[in-house]
Amino acid sequence: MIAKFGSSWLSVWLLALGVVLSSCRSSDAAKTEAEPAPGATRPAEAASDAIKVGLLAPFSGPFASLGAQIEGGIKAYLDTQGGNIDGRKVELLVRDDTGAPDVAKRLAQGLIVRDQVDFIAGFALTPVAMAVAPLATEAKKPMVIMNAATSSITTKSPYVVRVSLTLPQVTAPLATWAAKNGIHDVYSLVSDYAPGADAEAQFKKTFEAAGGKVVAADKVPVNNPDFAPFVQRVKDAKPEAVFVFVPAGTQGIAFMKAARERGLTEAGIRIIATGDLTEDQQIDPMGDAALGVVTTHHYSAAHASPENDAFKAAFAKVAGTQLRPNFMAVGGYDGMAAIAAVVRKLGPGKIDGDRAIEAFEGLELSSPRGPIRIDPETRDVIQTVYVRKVEKRGESYYNVEFEEYPAQKDPGK
Ligand code: PHB
Repeated sequence: MIAKFGSSWLSVWLLALGVVLSSCRSSDAAKTEAEPAPGATRPAEAASDAIKVGLLAPFSGPFASLGAQIEGGIKAYLDTQGGNIDGRKVELLVRDDTGAPDVAKRLAQGLIVRDQVDFIAGFALTPVAMAVAPLATEAKKPMVIMNAATSSITTKSPYVVRVSLTLPQVTAPLATWAAKNGIHDVYSLVSDYAPGADAEAQFKKTFEAAGGKVVAADKVPVNNPDFAPFVQRVKDAKPEAVFVFVPAGTQGIAFMKAARERGLTEAGIRIIATGDLTEDQQIDPMGDAALGVVTTHHYSAAHASPENDAFKAAFAKVAGTQLRPNFMAVGGYDGMAAIAAVVRKLGPGKIDGDRAIEAFEGLELSSPRGPIRIDPETRDVIQTVYVRKVEKRGESYYNVEFEEYPAQKDPGK
């Protein structure tokens, strides 16, 4: 098999494998190892003109899958570049924030002060991003948000840039679509923290402006929610649809299980949601219960484009074919691509935080999700939001895009 591809192919493959393994080793060690004494430098993190990227994300606890996806996306992009940007090696310093703001703050401090990273990146969860933003301001350190989606995060520091999404950005098109498609009354059910509040407020604003009515608004706990009593309340209220936001990870599966057990669909209540509910990593375990669920989001693994094909191939190379990349992985991939573009723009030398932020402003990328641009006024992402429906293709389930709202800004600002 190897001989068939010849020795040059083999050496490229071995080189790529070496890049992947060496980056896995250093980051896995960094994730678990005790913090070294102040001033100490890890040999693997010492190369002088290397670009250092500190990655803060959850790799343990209930949101562990978010960190794995973001890290996979970053490594996939780096692998497409042979691990280098502009001839400079990229060192990824991976830290497990466990989803806790106080842990994240301490780790961010270490990355900035002791490790002297050029960029801090990752940030799956809003509370973590909010906690770290003042440190970015103090250190003038570019902070690249690869998921956290509460609208106001970019206002918390002039050094924050977001490549992912905002909840209002993906929610407004869903409310517009619902009002145009014969849905008149909706029960709103969101996770009880900042992105949920954003989603609830934007849905109500857009839906009621279009003539609809939000008949009730309920909130589920962020940690380990038991969806059964909430779903029962939805059923008793008999709305035409329930609008749902829950954070990506395992909660979507738990919600869909409760909806199936309580017979929401049989009661004639449609489920509409932001794409977090049916995100690509969790959709297969939901099975037929998810069929027909309509969501809006910026990325689906089923998006048909050469950029998405290249992304999925790169992701499979570093993370294996068992894990389907979701929108977090795309956030990691695009965030790293944006960092690379900024490094190339700035040229040789130490990364200056202010010049880096200027270089991010107005940046355009051909993302696996479609074209994206960093709004120079807000440092937030402008992108197409797609309306999708869950369908079965072969043995797997996908969010199949059928309508799009191009060039969506965050309406929350
Ligand atoms: C967030 O905390 O901002 C967040 C987390 C997971 C999501 C969306 C938003 O799926």
